[in-house]
Amino acid sequence: MANIKFFSGEQIPLEMHKVRIVQKLSLPPVEKRLEAITEAGNNTFLLKNRDVFMDMLTDSGVNAMSDRQQSAMLVADDSYAGSETFTRLESKLHEIFGMDFFLPAHQGRACENIISQALVKPGTIVPMNYHFTTTKSHIVLNGGTVEELIADTGLEVTSSNPFKGNIDIEKLNELIEKNGADKIAFVRMEAGTNLIGGQPFSLQNLSEVRSLCDKYGLMLILDASLLSDNLYFLKEREEKCRSMSIREITKELARLCDIVYFSARKLGSARGGGICIRSKAVYEKMRELVTLYEGFLTYGGMSVREMEALTVGLEETMDEEMINQGPQFISYMVDELAKKGIPVVTPAGGLGCHINAMEFVSHIPQSQYPAGALAAALYIAGGIRGMERGTMSEQRNPDGSEVLSNMELLRLAMPRRVFTLSQVKYAIDRIAWLYENRMLIEGLAFVDEPKLLRFFFGRLKPISDWQQKLASKFRQDFGESL
Ligand code: F0G
Repeated sequence: MANIKFFSGEQIPLEMHKVRIVQKLSLPPVEKRLEAITEAGNNTFLLKNRDVFMDMLTDSGVNAMSDRQQSAMLVADDSYAGSETFTRLESKLHEIFGMDFFLPAHQGRACENIISQALVKPGTIVPMNYHFTTTKSHIVLNGGTVEELIADTGLEVTSSNPFKGNIDIEKLNELIEKNGADKIAFVRMEAGTNLIGGQPFSLQNLSEVRSLCDKYGLMLILDASLLSDNLYFLKEREEKCRSMSIREITKELARLCDIVYFSARKLGSARGGGICIRSKAVYEKMRELVTLYEGFLTYGGMSVREMEALTVGLEETMDEEMINQGPQFISYMVDELAKKGIPVVTPAGGLGCHINAMEFVSHIPQSQYPAGALAAALYIAGGIRGMERGTMSEQRNPDGSEVLSNMELLRLAMPRRVFTLSQVKYAIDRIAWLYENRMLIEGLAFVDEPKLLRFFFGRLKPISDWQQKLASKFRQDFGESL
């Protein structure tokens, strides 16, 4: 993709695939969009897909499959135990990650449940580069605490640091020294660090973590859900990886870890998930939890069709031309927005394009959910559904006060191979219009606020009639256009 030069000099990512199955989309007029977001309580999770033009909520379970994945699904071997489909998946994982044991699960968080139940004891600590919401919840549910040791530069919104997902090795060493190795349940590294904008860690960083784990006798667990993006960035950005194939880089990463788990809704562009384990003793500790929570050991809650699609998807992840589409489309979008002076997280990461709402709508206080307000505004402006990643996604303190988030981001996920470049250009255009009109955007307030996971189910209202004004301005500027 990156190597194809245009005569015009224009730098655009060229798709190395053709689209052979399509789904019709519609774009409701702005008046209907205003109605839909009001009905959804200003929460993009509650919008109906039929009202959405570009669904950029997540990349989870919505990546486009390849023709090979689709065809593999037709020759699946269905049986409760001993299915050939499972054996194919197990062998592929063994080939790629080089670990002897594999436990299947229905998705990523199910793996986290099993790992946490088996390894997190009350009072223990899990140091990590950065948390993911479901990961943290499972660790906390089992009496553990999470320590985020991301290097300080990882939290700088705009940066040229190629590896913002790196853990701070010195802080990790200090934490282990201070608490004692027996208090550490395990060390967790997340590939393509989700909540800070899909940012990768370096192979060098992971090797240093491994050395510390060896020194203190600790287990190192890799969350590989967003591994494909991290692999692409390693190949592009780390000197040592340039001469290695994606397969070799993957082997090397896995060699440094004791457990590799993943959500197959992201990795492998399929569904499901699983845990690859090096030690037999650890495998045996987790095995019965899989049969209790997920299903028998040869399916773990996945359908045989999902497993077949995953096996092929994992093999395709080893092909740089298959995994570069996401990061390159994201980079195109981020760079175009940055050129227009629109505040985005840089450098471009994997997963999606992240708009910095703290700056985009700097006039909205955090207590009025700037990223949530921006998500609602972008839906009104373009029928584009993003996800709030800011204060709305936090949980209040026990005394009812707000936990103000470090970052206020609007995440616009880029499901892999789903959108065309003209659709991405459309999104950039509507965001640019919104930026011009940003002073029309105001805050939101909860009208129905669940105690837990309020960002999923909560309903909010605009603090004034700003959304009507925004819709009228749209009509005025765009005339009859949708
Ligand atoms: N780990 C990471 C890094 C993730 O991004 C996710 C899911 C999970 C674990 C949990 O996996 O959804 O299969 O249970 N991220 C999705 C997202 C939900 O939208 O970013 P799951």
